[in-house]
Order: sequence, then structure tokens, then C-alpha cells
Amino acid sequence: MFINNINYYGFIFERGRTTQMSEKISLLDAYNNTDHKIQGNGKRNIQVLKDALDGIDGNMDSDMYGKGNVIERFQNKMAAYLGKSSAVFFPSGTMAQQIALRIWCDERGIKKVAYHPLSHLEIHEEGGLQELHHIEPVLLANKERTIRLEDVVGMQDEIASLLLELPQREIGGQLPPYEELEAISAHCRAKGIKLHLDGARLFEILPYYDKTAAEVCGLFDSVYVSFYKGIGGIAGAVLAGEESFTSLSKVWKRRHGGDLISLYPYILSSDFYFEQRIPKMAQYYRESVELAALFNECQGISTKPLQPVSNMFHVHADMSKESLESVLIAIYEQTGLGIAPFVQATSESTCYYEVNIGDRYESIPKDRLREAFRLLDEKMKDLK
Ligand SMILES: Cc1ncc(COP(=O)(O)O)c(C=O)c1O
Repeated sequence: MFINNINYYGFIFERGRTTQMSEKISLLDAYNNTDHKIQGNGKRNIQVLKDALDGIDGNMDSDMYGKGNVIERFQNKMAAYLGKSSAVFFPSGTMAQQIALRIWCDERGIKKVAYHPLSHLEIHEEGGLQELHHIEPVLLANKERTIRLEDVVGMQDEIASLLLELPQREIGGQLPPYEELEAISAHCRAKGIKLHLDGARLFEILPYYDKTAAEVCGLFDSVYVSFYKGIGGIAGAVLAGEESFTSLSKVWKRRHGGDLISLYPYILSSDFYFEQRIPKMAQYYRESVELAALFNECQGISTKPLQPVSNMFHVHADMSKESLESVLIAIYEQTGLGIAPFVQATSESTCYYEVNIGDRYESIPKDRLREAFRLLDEKMKDLK
């Protein structure tokens, strides 16, 4: 599903400079024309794979249908990092998570799972869980906040599994307090509910929680992590848990057609960028807190969460999408700094966009950043 040049995950297919007249230029074109972009790690182009493979010995054997050194070594490495006894590499998180929930439903003989109304499964997977697995979702909490202990305790339905997404991306990347997570985990264990972690952005929240991945994952029965969000790889996911769980997940991976004869381009690039960016997660988090503060100083703008808990947040503006787009285009043209490639309307007079911090932010000249925010504040005030 593509909206112009942006897919629904918010990735940007950046092009070269455009020659359109400035009065006609779209926000995306204006963004593509800037010298510096505050978001992400860089362009998602083929160079990302070339860089990852650059130092690899061409004589290395490829993996074959889930077997071989290249896949097994990475799976073992990730199992150890996540503190689980076993891990399986998947081409996508969509596949991995539907399979995880299917396994837990089969084990308990209950075809119901609970998750947030804005979870990836609910809004981005075309009903895969229902259509492919006949599993019914129970939606907990509401679209403004994360799932709380009281939602879980007060749930009427009997479920096989509860999925928690940390951080909850569609509400700006919010997190429950860690103690609440521990309490939810203890409740689920007592009730025989399998707790599954949608950890698409798990690495990105570890500096805020000040926990290791293994400590967080220890609260969950199964865990999915992604290698193309903050890690910035090409694609790919890992599903981790007990051996009895992951061995079943391999059977389902085959049934889903996910057992590609060779997955090494994804595995090697995942490993390469994992090594490169795991040590930078604390920096991205700090930079995201710094940047959110700059947004919050501007008239009519606020971030969600007010203080980010990861490398991401949402920027909400009290104005129409069209008005904010004009403001941003003018700023991009004046400063050469790209803030966001697109804006989404939340109502006729409000809108928002997502910000994700990666490698790019540190190289932004500070004077340009200051100038862009001075202009943003000024233009927002003018519009009042
Ligand atoms: C929170 C969350 N869960 C799951 C997924 C699915 O990952 P994949 O694109 O690998 O299927 C995504 C992807 O954006 C996500 O953001």
C-alpha cells in the first residue's frame, strides 16, 4: 500500500532533487530537495546492502532452508542477546507474529488474543490473523494510551495470549512504566496467558527503561524484534522463546512460505547494522529528547509523548495539514533542512507527523537547526 512515495510504515522513498516550480512543490519534493534531513539513518537505497556485504568473504556458504552456519550463528546470537533459549529468523515481523499467536492459541485451545486497537496486527495486516488463522482479537485500552494492568485484569474474555507493543508506535511510541509491565507479566503467568512482545522497536527503548534486552524479554513468553527500524537493515525479524515454541514456529514458517531457500542478504545485513547501531541507541534516545524539546518550544506544536522514551515521537500541530505543509515547505526552502516528508490530518484543523532519530541527526549543523526552529515558531505565531 503506497500513498504517493510513502508506504504505510512511513518509510520515505527519497528521490534526487526535483525541478518543479516552488509554488507547486509538494512537501515530499521540498523535503527531497533539502541538504540535510533530521530523520532516519540515510537513504533506503541499494548501497545499504552493498555496505553490509562489503567485508564479507564471498566463499561463505549461503543458508539453505533455515539451515547453515550463517543463519544458525545469527539465531544463536540473537537468542543470547534476548535471553531466550532459541530464536528463528523470519523474512517479516508480520509473518513471525501471526505465527507466534497461532502457536499460543493452539496450545491453549482458545482462538482469542488481546492487543491494542492500534497494533500492527489490527491496522496494517489486512486481517491476516482472522483470515489465515481464524483468531479473534480482543482490543484493550483505547487509541490514546497504552494497555494498563487494569485493562488486563478487567478483561471478560478468555484469551490464549496478550500482545504488548513496546513502544506503542501509533501513539507516538509510548511505554507503560516498567513496574506495570512486571505486574502485567505476573498476572498473565498466574492466569496461564502467554505474553508476547511486539518488539519491533525494542532496542530503541532499552536506554529509557535502563534494562537489558534479556531483562525486558524475561517478562515475555515470546518475543519478536525487527532489524529494519532503528537498526536500519533491509528487512527481517527474529522470533524468540523456548525451544518447544520456536521449533513449532519453524513448521509454520514453512507453511507460510517464509522458509526461503536463502535469507542471507537479510541476515548478514541485519547482523551488520545490529553491530553498528545497537551502541548508538542511547544517543538516538538523547537526541530525540533534545529535538522534542525544540518542537515543544514552538507555538501551537506539541509532541507525543511530551518527553520521548525512545528514538521516536509524534509532532502534533494545531493547524490544518495544508497549512502546516506550507509552513514546512517554506522552512525547507529557506534553511535546506528537511524536518518531515509528509503530514497526516487528524481533523480539519489539526495534524501530525512522526519523527524517528537515527544516524543523520548528529551531522545536522546546529545553526541550521536553530534557524529552522526559530522560523517554525515565527511562522506558527504568524498564523495565529
Ligand atoms: C509495531 C510493528 N509490529 C510489527 C511490524 C511488522 O514488521 P514487518 O514489516 O517486518 O512485517 C511492524 C512494521 O512496521 C511494526 O511497526
